[in-house]
Amino acid sequence: MSKQKLIYQCQTCGHSASKWLGKCPDCGAWNSFIEEKIIASKPLKTGTGSTAVSLTDIQINKEDSRTTGIGELDRVLGGGIVSGAVVLIGGDPGIGKSTIVLQMLDGLLRNNGDDSGIALYVSGEESLKQIKLRSQRLGINNYRIKVLSETCVDTIISYVKEIKPTVLIVDSIQTVFLQDLPSAPGSVGQVRESSYQLMQLAKQTHLPVFIVGHVTKEGAIAGPRVLEHIVDTVLYFEGERGYSYRILRAVKNRFGSTNEIGVFDMREKGLCEITNPSELFLDQNSERMSGTVVVATIEGTRPLLVELQALVSRTSFGIPRRTGIGVDINRVNLLIAVLEKIGGMHLGDCDIFINVVGGLKIIEPAFDLGIISTIVSSHKNIIINKEILVFGEIGLSGEIRAVSQAEARIKEGAKIGFKEAIIPVSNLNRLNSKPEIKITGVKNIEEALKRICYS
Ligand code: TYD
Ligand code: MG
Repeated sequence: MSKQKLIYQCQTCGHSASKWLGKCPDCGAWNSFIEEKIIASKPLKTGTGSTAVSLTDIQINKEDSRTTGIGELDRVLGGGIVSGAVVLIGGDPGIGKSTIVLQMLDGLLRNNGDDSGIALYVSGEESLKQIKLRSQRLGINNYRIKVLSETCVDTIISYVKEIKPTVLIVDSIQTVFLQDLPSAPGSVGQVRESSYQLMQLAKQTHLPVFIVGHVTKEGAIAGPRVLEHIVDTVLYFEGERGYSYRILRAVKNRFGSTNEIGVFDMREKGLCEITNPSELFLDQNSERMSGTVVVATIEGTRPLLVELQALVSRTSFGIPRRTGIGVDINRVNLLIAVLEKIGGMHLGDCDIFINVVGGLKIIEPAFDLGIISTIVSSHKNIIINKEILVFGEIGLSGEIRAVSQAEARIKEGAKIGFKEAIIPVSNLNRLNSKPEIKITGVKNIEEALKRICYS
């Protein structure tokens, strides 16, 4: 009998070593190594054998991509559920992962008629009664959704081969295990090998598989990063505590654009789609104060209007504080430096706080113009007209640079009722269609601030 190979693996980052280590040389975590057995992953057998097929001869059937009946989810998935795709859904506990997959199964079966077969929902976390209670709350009572409470991957796979569902959900990957591996469920080795087996199943039988994964304190899906590499699509389900809306974000997608987001509202009876998120994040009725501006940003392929706020106050300590929530703080520091050097403002004795209203996180250069306008507005106590929206990237010498998809941003603004957009002048020159609202092109921060704050 061949000797079984053992390795030690860091449970935080997946780094492996031949002997036990107290501190991981890769991620620096202490006491994170546990013993894992290596099993040789069986190579994937494909139906085409070893002959290459001409690209023009590959047929795509209509059933290869099915709608889930939930528009926001379809867009994030890149059009619908693709056969043989492995999708990983990650998120904090209680964010609504189990809810969205259950609603998805119901929508999928209802939208694709009686011939869409059955869906299998495997839960290693909840009992059948708990799942029934949730589905009652969601108003889902579909006999074609089969529920299985099981944690052994080998059993799940043989059961799938027996009942041949059209879609499989595994909730969650941290609770399932392979019998061949001695380590506990949730360990790096188990998570990786279980996902690999499920991926093989998906590719061989063309079954779409959704894997639910937990997120660690640092915000990554628990388990090794390789998990994100082997699956086709990685979706993160996010939301802020205290807000009922949820954002589903594609961070990797082999079938569509990443950065795509879907917005939902968690209500009494489950998740509801928000088809016009700009209205959700803007409060146009309240009285406008200084230090607030609306920025048109792009998330994936969709424009989104968000309110940005700044508070500039005298610092009580030697070193001024610079805090940003929902923005890249390095970018904020850079813009403050531009304001001081090029704009001639003195902010060295001021604390500056920046916040994106609604708990959104926006990392996009087009936000720059919004950031400097709010800082100036708060610092000088000037109220920015609430009918103005802005966007534009700022260069280190204070020039305003063009951004992508200017037309879509302007259109969204016009839809919500804005009267004027302040945009980079180079974008203005390139506009194809005649804009529905007044457009002002600006070349540098001096011109922009004059128009936004001092007009
Ligand atoms: P759940 O899907 O169990 O989260 P996860 O699987 O990500 O851990 O969602 C649980 C939360 O959602 C719980 O805090 C209650 C809330 N919820 C609603 O507000 N309305 C509903 O209809 C349902 C089913 C859940
Ligand atoms: Mg759950």
